[in-house]
Amino acid sequence: MFTPQPIGFVISPFKDTGSIPKGLGAKHEEEGVLEILPEFAPGLTDIEGYSHLIVLWAFDRSDGFDLMVSPPTDNRPHGLFSTRSPRRPNPIGLTVVELLRREGGSLHVRGVDMLDKTPILDIKPYLSSIPADKLRRGWLAEAEARKA
Ligand SMILES: C[S@@+](CC[C@H](N)C(=O)[O-])C[C@H]1O[C@@H](n2cnc3c(N)ncnc32)[C@H](O)[C@@H]1O
Repeated sequence: MFTPQPIGFVISPFKDTGSIPKGLGAKHEEEGVLEILPEFAPGLTDIEGYSHLIVLWAFDRSDGFDLMVSPPTDNRPHGLFSTRSPRRPNPIGLTVVELLRREGGSLHVRGVDMLDKTPILDIKPYLSSIPADKLRRGWLAEAEARKA
């Protein structure tokens, strides 16, 4: 298919997985920087117009996968592809961040949930066209309701 190559790396306050908020109600409001490599930085032209970005990145510190997982948001097992587990056949992470400002090839963002030095695979503008009343949140909504 293709061999992924990083377009940059995340500067994150999180140095180990234990310091990243997890579980029901976890909020990701930490700021970080997406440092884009000089050869890809011209591709950031016009990005300042967007409030939010989709960041695709590599779980470079996870190994293997299980098809059934017990996420920290529930005490019941779920199929891998109905979770955001870091252990996946193709270890790709996706995070929506708020773009605070751009300084050259550095994007200052809020909402990182990646470890420091995580490789960035791609960045795309976030354009949600799904009305809130059409969104279903699957087992997560049920887990939230049980906890409430
Ligand atoms: C539940 S995943 C969700 C990540 C992303 N928002 C997604 O939906 O793909 C977030 C967890 O991945 C783990 N993680 C973050 N950066 C990682 C990395 N570079 N390699 C391996 N695991 C990582 C941390 O344990 C973090 O709490």
